[in-house]
Amino acid sequence: MESKTIAPIVISIVAIIIAVAALNASYKTTPVPQVTPTAVGFDNKTPIPTTHNSLTLDQIAGIQPGLGTVMMEYGNRFYIMYYAAKSGNWELAQYQMKEALEIQEVGETTRTGRAANLKTFEASYLEPLNATLNAKDWNTFQAAYNKTIDGCNGCHTLNQFPYITYTLPSSPPNIP
Ligand code: HEC
Repeated sequence: MESKTIAPIVISIVAIIIAVAALNASYKTTPVPQVTPTAVGFDNKTPIPTTHNSLTLDQIAGIQPGLGTVMMEYGNRFYIMYYAAKSGNWELAQYQMKEALEIQEVGETTRTGRAANLKTFEASYLEPLNATLNAKDWNTFQAAYNKTIDGCNGCHTLNQFPYITYTLPSSPPNIP
């Protein structure tokens, strides 16, 4: 009776010991490269293991959204914002503005060379436009919106992209 109950316990303990040993061994066979600060900053060339593959800091930085990606999102949000405001869905329009400001910050971080222009644009156009959204006033919104789009395209010309002209699509999107 006693030996029958002890045997499974012994087997479980042995199994646990083997599992722990195997786990230790697997950690030992895959050493984690160390990313060490150097005199000029962090080592950005050492591959760092991630869930899928190993990436260097340079590679991680290289795949962050650049201004083109930020702008595609801008275009979409300004499209939805306009028609949301037009249909009286001010909360949705305000939401689009909030998200547009957030993606703009991504652009300021990943493309620091454009940060000053983006900040000026925010102060000159986005803040006044935001005020009309908070006031929920269609006429002042529409006027400020048109000015903002001129500001968008002004910045494109200023940055040697005169052929990028944002135009509001004439039919409303499928509002979420
Ligand atoms: C700080 C200057 C600046 C402002 C302000 C700006 N843009 Fe841009 N935009 C750019 C630049 C620069 C590009 C070219 C993308 C690149 O550099 O990769 C661009 C590209 C674009 C593109 C093309 C993206 C593509 O790859 O197909 C769209 C659409 C766009 N912008 C929309 C807008 C809208 C809408 C606004 C205003 C709400 C706006 N932009 C405001 C600088 C700006």
